[in-house]
Amino acid sequence: MKIIVAKNYEEMSARAFEVMAEVVKTNPQAVLGLATGSTPLGLYRNMIEDHKKNGTSYKQIKTVNLDEYAGLDENSDQSYVYFMRKNLFDSLDIDRKNTNIEDGTASDRKAECARYNALLHELQQDIQVLGIGSNGHIAFNEPGTPFGSETHVVDLTESTIKDNSRLFKNIDEVPRQAFTMGLKNIMNAKKILILANGENKAQAVYGLVKGEVTENVPASVLQLHPDCTLVCDEAAARLIL
Ligand code: F6R
Repeated sequence: MKIIVAKNYEEMSARAFEVMAEVVKTNPQAVLGLATGSTPLGLYRNMIEDHKKNGTSYKQIKTVNLDEYAGLDENSDQSYVYFMRKNLFDSLDIDRKNTNIEDGTASDRKAECARYNALLHELQQDIQVLGIGSNGHIAFNEPGTPFGSETHVVDLTESTIKDNSRLFKNIDEVPRQAFTMGLKNIMNAKKILILANGENKAQAVYGLVKGEVTENVPASVLQLHPDCTLVCDEAAARLIL
């Protein structure tokens, strides 16, 4: 694993953008695997700024997102489809038809997993952006998820519900289930770019980089990926330096 330790969030985002820019600029038809959450917002701001200043085009780019809350749709400002539009897609020249995410409102959840999984088999990610949960989750693959997992519906753990409640009016509004890519779908990406910032991610980053490769720490599977780059700030890197 390649590790880049940045001084702060801004520098982490700029370094992450360098990795992303190389993919987008060398392959204008690339498939980007994208994540939501607080961590990649700075990376997305850099992508938007570059698009506006330098005209980097996303017209032929395709995207696949990691996950979506079950029950939320694009009109909910907590849904991940809404997040992606607001924080990235609306400010790029990307074709909405080329952006993909699980349908949180699907009534047949099993069929929706099968549909999305088939799509992931067609659209191998040239790069997959990831954040990391404080419990070591990646996407919504919580501790104990099999490394061989593909797209599935998960029951969110108490720790994830608590972490994510900061973005909702109150903790009761956080959905208890989500659709997520599985760990095998993530590992299928040609390149992984995982980001982490802040002291509350230090333990998870330790597990990602130096811990035992175990399903108890989903992110540890990335130690087995041939092209994985971690970009983190000093606070998140505290236990690996
Ligand atoms: C987001 C996702 C999650 C987050 C993780 C970190 O699509 O799948 O795994 O990456 O929970 O969230 P933040 O960045 O908000 O700390």
